[in-house]
Amino acid sequence: MATLKDQLLSTVTEPVLTGRNKITVVGVGQVGMACAFSILTNNISSDVGLIDVMADKLKGEMMDLQHGSAFLKNARINASTDYAATANSSICIVTAGARQREGETRLALVQRNTDIFKGIIPQLVKYSPNTILLIVSNPVDILTYVAWRLSGLPKNRVIGSGTNLDSARFRFLLSQKLNVAPTSCHGWIIGEHGDTSVPVWSGVNVAGVRLRDLYEDVGTDKDKEHWDELHKQVVQSAYEVIKLKGYTSWAIGLSVSHLASAILRNSNQVHAVSTLVTGHHGINEEVFLSLPCTLGEDGVTLIVQQKLTYEELALLQKSSAKMQEVQKNLKF
Ligand SMILES: NC(=O)c1ccc[n+]([C@@H]2O[C@H](COP(=O)([O-])OP(=O)(O)OC[C@H]3O[C@@H](n4cnc5c(N)ncnc54)[C@H](O)[C@@H]3O)[C@@H](O)[C@H]2O)c1
Repeated sequence: MATLKDQLLSTVTEPVLTGRNKITVVGVGQVGMACAFSILTNNISSDVGLIDVMADKLKGEMMDLQHGSAFLKNARINASTDYAATANSSICIVTAGARQREGETRLALVQRNTDIFKGIIPQLVKYSPNTILLIVSNPVDILTYVAWRLSGLPKNRVIGSGTNLDSARFRFLLSQKLNVAPTSCHGWIIGEHGDTSVPVWSGVNVAGVRLRDLYEDVGTDKDKEHWDELHKQVVQSAYEVIKLKGYTSWAIGLSVSHLASAILRNSNQVHAVSTLVTGHHGINEEVFLSLPCTLGEDGVTLIVQQKLTYEELALLQKSSAKMQEVQKNLKF
């Protein structure tokens, strides 16, 4: 006898699963879920898959998101501990791993998370050989290098969330000081996401008016107005938020969803993301650091050649040397 469903609906054709700009998020901790939530609520992808090793938590997070489907735009939300479910992902966002403990530097996390990546990256590439890997786990620059090495993907398809977040924090702080919206305060933090990040004070501007043209000491040691405090606050931000609430989540979720949007929409928007910088700004080492890059369906397509001052170049090269120092001790 025909079921109620058969009586209600007559099948014209079986649905074929075509590419829906599928995004996989590996790691359903605070960061992974903030990324997934931001991607879904901003309609960046309507096909989000979650992966984690903790089956119960994974199922709980999936169900909780699915229960919001009526408020989303036709989203498909899946979860699995099996990487076969990630097949044909356009982007794989990796947030899995141990997080910083209070007072722990991002670099101290490195070998712990490298070992975790050995179980994740080859699986993602096996099921989505044309994917773009977007790495978020810390220390993000080194782990993006690790993911590039483990994946065998071309350099343009392995991207670290990098200083997109640091730049956003910087623009927020500038906006507070100037009473101008963050979207209208233009400033870039490049280099390492973390302690040796480089504020490009030479380019900070509002409506094309460079702060340094008005006040040549801005951001330097000689600055009597102490604008450099803003960058110090950027560096301290994560430590402070972790101390206060135990982790950071919302800003990184929004930051990553914007990167995913630029990729899926092939927008060529410029973001500060971690990319292989060999040959740029006098860096010869094989390291990943953030520079302003255009993002599109092939990942990183262009790197903006900023005119850095001597001091900014020196700081960037210091970041690079630090990455190289850590990388040489990594066990693959
Ligand atoms: N790049 C950035 O700007 C930025 C910002 C914030 C946090 N982070 C980093 O993101 C990472 C995640 O932070 P969090 O607060 O979400 O941590 P969390 O502890 O809340 O979540 C981590 C998740 O990873 C999962 N996981 C662990 N090993 C796994 C494996 N082998 N396969 C699949 N899943 C696995 C855990 O089960 C857990 O659900 C950390 O490394 C953190 O430092 C980066």
